[in-house]
Amino acid sequence: DASDIEKGTYPHFMLKEIDEQPFVIRNIIQKYQDENDNIMLEEGIRNAIKEADRLYIIACGTSYHAGLVGKQFLETFAKIPVEVHVASEFSYNMPLLTEKPLFIFISQSGETADSRAVLVQVKELGYPAITLTNAPGSTLSREADYTLLLHAGPEIAVASTKAYTAQIAVLAILAVDSARAKGLHIPFDLTKELGIVANAMEVLCDSKEEMENIAKEFLATTRNCFFIGRGIDYYVCLEGALKLKEISYIQAEGFAGGELKHGTIALIEQGTPVIALATQEHVNLSIRGNVKEVVARGANPCVISLKGLEMEGDRFVLPSVLEAFSPLVSVIPLQLISYYAALHRDCDVDKPRNLAKSVTVE
Ligand code: G6P
Repeated sequence: DASDIEKGTYPHFMLKEIDEQPFVIRNIIQKYQDENDNIMLEEGIRNAIKEADRLYIIACGTSYHAGLVGKQFLETFAKIPVEVHVASEFSYNMPLLTEKPLFIFISQSGETADSRAVLVQVKELGYPAITLTNAPGSTLSREADYTLLLHAGPEIAVASTKAYTAQIAVLAILAVDSARAKGLHIPFDLTKELGIVANAMEVLCDSKEEMENIAKEFLATTRNCFFIGRGIDYYVCLEGALKLKEISYIQAEGFAGGELKHGTIALIEQGTPVIALATQEHVNLSIRGNVKEVVARGANPCVISLKGLEMEGDRFVLPSVLEAFSPLVSVIPLQLISYYAALHRDCDVDKPRNLAKSVTVE
């Protein structure tokens, strides 16, 4: 059928979509920047951000995880306070809002009912909204005041991969633009750094054999798996755990490295796989301390570190990128490890049980 043709030589859409990520990042740079490296954004979006006293990011699933990373960018680069909420919770338990809130909906499909329910409420209250989506003309795009497109191309696999990295890249651009609009200094060259990210992604996509080996070694028969990280790595761990749950049905949880000892460490047994991310210099030693804690209780550690922060015994070292942009690269091994874990456990990678690509019921 038509979808087989689109898959080309790939066995699964998920693998194809993972491989498309370097291209998607380069495409986003082209779509959002002119030849002089000026960011191209609708004036209305700039004004809406300028006028807001707080941004509320609303999303579900993987898009929520991208929102957490986006919060980090918007707060550190542009100094704008941001809250990130799961749509279904926000809708039924709306927090106290600031005076001039601006809503940013993140939705790959632009059709998620939980997110739309919030958008409807927000519009009734008269607040402005931007939708960040891969689907031009989608419901969330039409009903918001402004749309930011992901330009990632159709994502077919139920487990989201390239939409996540596209969301993060567009949020980075939005944050840098908002910083510039406020006259804040950005200590890096955005185009150059995203270009370095795209090249690093390519290296990672060429490391499939290594990722398959990790999946076989750590996840072939395990019942559960933990992902630990601190700061921005923690957010990527949440996404890594979701990917693994979605397609391999291994019970997986992402934890903040420091929080593990407050309960969850009780679950660590002899051989429990613990995948740890170490991409942030300021928490490198503390996350390694957490790895030691789980190893002392029998865990089988798989540390993935950023070049420059690697230590003896790390299982994989990511090519060097700007630390702030590490989620764009650290997620790729996690996507590939999940893919191979699912494959070797004979799961239906592209169409996992119980899940739908876009959930149009609340
Ligand atoms: C579904 C999908 C997830 C996705 C979530 C949000 O549950 O299975 O992969 O992250 O919806 O989808 P959206 O299209 O709003 O980003």
